Amino acid sequence: MSGFSADWLTLREPFDAAARHVRVRDEALRSIAGLDPVAIVDLACGTGSGMRAFAPFVPARQTWRLADNDLSLLARAAESPRPERAQATAVPVDLAHDLEAALDGAVDLVTTTALLDLVSAPWLERLAIECAARRLPLYAALSYNGHIAFTPEDRGDAVIVAAVNAHQRTDKGFGPALGPIAGAEAIARFAAVGYVTVHETSDWTMGPQDREMQNALLAGWAGAARELDAQPLDDIIGWLTRRRELVAAGRSSMIVGHVDLFARPTETREAARSQSNSTSPSRR
Ligand SMILES: C[S@@+](CC[C@H](N)C(=O)[O-])C[C@H]1O[C@@H](n2cnc3c(N)ncnc32)[C@H](O)[C@@H]1O
Repeated sequence: MSGFSADWLTLREPFDAAARHVRVRDEALRSIAGLDPVAIVDLACGTGSGMRAFAPFVPARQTWRLADNDLSLLARAAESPRPERAQATAVPVDLAHDLEAALDGAVDLVTTTALLDLVSAPWLERLAIECAARRLPLYAALSYNGHIAFTPEDRGDAVIVAAVNAHQRTDKGFGPALGPIAGAEAIARFAAVGYVTVHETSDWTMGPQDREMQNALLAGWAGAARELDAQPLDDIIGWLTRRRELVAAGRSSMIVGHVDLFARPTETREAARSQSNSTSPSRR
C-alpha cells in the first residue's frame, strides 16, 4: 500500500484529464511521431490514469510499461481499459531505489503524473541523469505548484495553505519532498542536462458542483495541518466546518495549481548513434 487509495485516484482522474495542458501533451506526441510501435514507461502509474489520458492521442501501436510499488493499484492498472492498439505490462518497482530498472530496455518516452512533487531533489537529479544517459524525453504532468485559491475566501485559508505546503515538503519515501517547487526544479534539472523544456500550468478548477472532490481535498488539507500541529485543533475544525458548509450550500469554488512539463534531449538517440558509428575505429 502506498497511501494513495484507488478511490482517491479515481476521484481526481477527471480533474487531471481536464487540467492537462494541450501544448505540453502535443510536444510529447511530437517526440514519438513516426515511431510504430512506440514504447512508453509510466512512472508511478497508480491505476493507469496517465495511460488512459495519453494513449488515445497516440496514433501508433503502443507498449506501456506501468511502474509502481503499490501492488493493488498496479493490479487495477493492468486491467485498465485502453485503446486496442495499446498493450500494457504492470511492473512492480520501488522507484526510490530501482529507477534504473524501470527505465532500462526499449523505451521511447517516459511519462509520469503527480509524482514529481513527492520526490526529493537528489531523486529528481537522478531521474534527469538517467533520462539524459538514455536520451529519453520526459512528459511529467500535474506537479502541484503550491497555489490554492478559494472562492469565497475564509479567514483561516492562509494558515491551512501554508501548512499544506509545508506538509508537501515532508518525506514521501524519496527523501525530503520537493512539493510545490517540484515543477520549477524539474525544469532547471532537465535544462542542466541539456534538455529543451516546455511547461504550462495545468490547474484543477472545481466549481460548486464538484462537492466530492472539494470535500476530499479539504479533509486531506485539514489532516495535513493537524499532522504538522500547525494551529490549535479547534481552529482547524472551525475552518473545515465553515468550508464544508460553503461546499454543501453550492457556494464554494477552488483552484489547485499544477504544472505540466515536457523535456526533450537536444540530441536524439539516432543522431548520437550515427555520430558514434561514424567516429568508431571500425568505421574508419
Ligand atoms: C499521486 S499518486 C499518482 C498516481 C497516478 N500517476 C495518477 O496520476 O493517478 C502517486 C503514485 O506514486 C506511487 N509511488 C509512491 N512511492 C513510490 C515508489 N517508491 N515507487 C513506485 N511508486 C511509488 C504511488 O503508489 C502512487 O500510485
